[in-house]
Amino acid sequence: MSTEQYSKGLAGVFVAESAICTVGVKGVGLNYRGYDIKELAAQSTFEEVAYLMIYGRLPTEQELVAYIRTLSSLRQLPGALCDVLERIPSSAHPMDVLRTGCSLLGTLEPESKTNDQYQIANRLIALFGSMLLYWYHWTTSGKRIQTTTHQDDSTARNFLKLLRLDGQEPPALHVKVVDVSLILYAEHDLAASSFCARVTTSTLTDFYSGICSAIGTLRGPLHGGANEAAMKLLEQFNNPQDAETGIMKMLSNKELIMGFGHRVYRNGDPRNPIIKEWSKKLSQEEGGDPNLFAVSERVEQVVFREKKMFPNLDFYSASAYNQVGIPTLFFTPVFVISRTTGWAAHIIEQRANNKLIRPSAIYTGPDSRPYIPLKDRK
Ligand code: CMC
Repeated sequence: MSTEQYSKGLAGVFVAESAICTVGVKGVGLNYRGYDIKELAAQSTFEEVAYLMIYGRLPTEQELVAYIRTLSSLRQLPGALCDVLERIPSSAHPMDVLRTGCSLLGTLEPESKTNDQYQIANRLIALFGSMLLYWYHWTTSGKRIQTTTHQDDSTARNFLKLLRLDGQEPPALHVKVVDVSLILYAEHDLAASSFCARVTTSTLTDFYSGICSAIGTLRGPLHGGANEAAMKLLEQFNNPQDAETGIMKMLSNKELIMGFGHRVYRNGDPRNPIIKEWSKKLSQEEGGDPNLFAVSERVEQVVFREKKMFPNLDFYSASAYNQVGIPTLFFTPVFVISRTTGWAAHIIEQRANNKLIRPSAIYTGPDSRPYIPLKDRK
């Protein structure tokens, strides 16, 4: 193989054919199976998008009703999973809770002819929120959630109900914002976690292994962990002026500004204006945080002015989730709930036309040399 083909981090390298989504094909835009993300975010729901990802087409009205019911029916946790969740320390990172929960479910409900990839995909989409919030309430207040499902609730509404556990209906605006964010997070072609799911799948392993690999990959701050990291950045600033000073200092120290930049988009992340608008709307409503939004906008202005870099989806997701009352450590797990749809689509597509993914490295180690017996080594 020619070393000219080498591209660090696989930047600009095409490694698969895929009919799932386009990311910045012409430097801009994003669509899922041909549908523009702007239209999906404005008109559809997460469940429609999940169906589109997994089954390859938008559902009819009847199919959607049935699908929402299916997801509701899959949200109850098996007892053995509750037992394990109760043993995970409260200090654990919630992403590790989901990775562990996914792995355990693979032992309780292994993939088989009667529990196929479609069923497992739906089970995981339905169950990740239940796992997370069961563990959370148990480890923080010793409460066992008795029922982790409410019939016919959307994924977003169910998540917010389980988070609060006060029996109150979550505000419609909060449900809407979480629903839109789930649509935006659902798929992004060969982002590191989806690529990882495909690499794992290409060895002909089981479905759960692909998702566990993907969760571990998403957790890092250069990928999904950026939404959590962006919130931690914003929390350091008391007001816009403070943000201006802080960001200037970070840039002069060559520090990364989390929630900015992207491997593929060069002129802006098309998801950003959508989530930014919802974050702004939240900040203008009762209970919103106008200062947090103003701080975020100032960070955006300074980073653009100084580096010509733009926010990616993770940046304004941070202020949106914060205003909805989602704890910062749950930001990336919410991303998991959504991206499981995209990961599932990639696993299904990889399996349909599989080839082992096994690239090569350019060797830079020592030349061939004789083995030194242990007793002769100094
Ligand atoms: N803050 C400061 N400098 C940056 C940033 C940033 N967020 N992003 C890129 N740069 C610099 C980078 O250090 C490099 O500088 P130099 O040429 O002096 O070494 C230059 O810009 C070019 O970077 P690049 O080629 O665009 O970097 P990449 O494609 O290897 O990395 C990235 C893309 C997303 C990992 C990177 O932009 C980053 O680390 N961003 C912060 C983390 C983040 O927000 N991640 C979420 C990504 S999008 C959603 C997702 O996939 O989960």
